[in-house]
Amino acid sequence: MRISLRNDKENLLLRLNHKMHKSCYPALKETSTKAVVGKGDFRAKIMFIGEAPGKNEDEFGEPFVGASGKILDSLLESIQMKRSEVYITNVFKYRPKGNRDPAKKEIAVCEEWLTEEIRIVDPVLIVTLGRHAMHRFAPDLKISDSHGCVFQTATSNRNRKTVLTLYHPAATLYNKKLQKVLFDDFQKIPALLER
Ligand code: URA
Repeated sequence: MRISLRNDKENLLLRLNHKMHKSCYPALKETSTKAVVGKGDFRAKIMFIGEAPGKNEDEFGEPFVGASGKILDSLLESIQMKRSEVYITNVFKYRPKGNRDPAKKEIAVCEEWLTEEIRIVDPVLIVTLGRHAMHRFAPDLKISDSHGCVFQTATSNRNRKTVLTLYHPAATLYNKKLQKVLFDDFQKIPALLER
């Protein structure tokens, strides 16, 4: 039963990635070499949503494989979790040219893709990394005021999901004071998974 659920989700995601990649192709051509699709355990209770792939992600075709990914791995280790136990994706699936922030228009191109991903993986907890991912669920919040916030959101399948809003790991590369803030906020995850 578990195996067939896994296969179902895997197949649904494969089909979704194929379909969305075709319809989002114009976005790809302008900005990057390939689509970087979600990766991890399709049955995960926790889904991390970042911003957009960077240079390393564009090269390897996987989310969070560069400097931000190393920080994410060590944060996961701090709560005794491994990357293979979670699902990781982005609001925009293509590397924005020159590593700029993804534009609202670009994020909108990938909106259906993310919505479907959430529906298929159906996690218990969604953890947003950075303001772009947070704005997907709470467009009016400011990350400096709202990091570490927990709220409920209705997703397209009418399931209510718990959302935890975190600073983006890259923010701690430029502002060392945020390392402890992000670490402390991250420690809320185990209790939220138990709820
Ligand atoms: N930053 C992101 O937001 N996503 C990635 O995949 C890599 C870095």
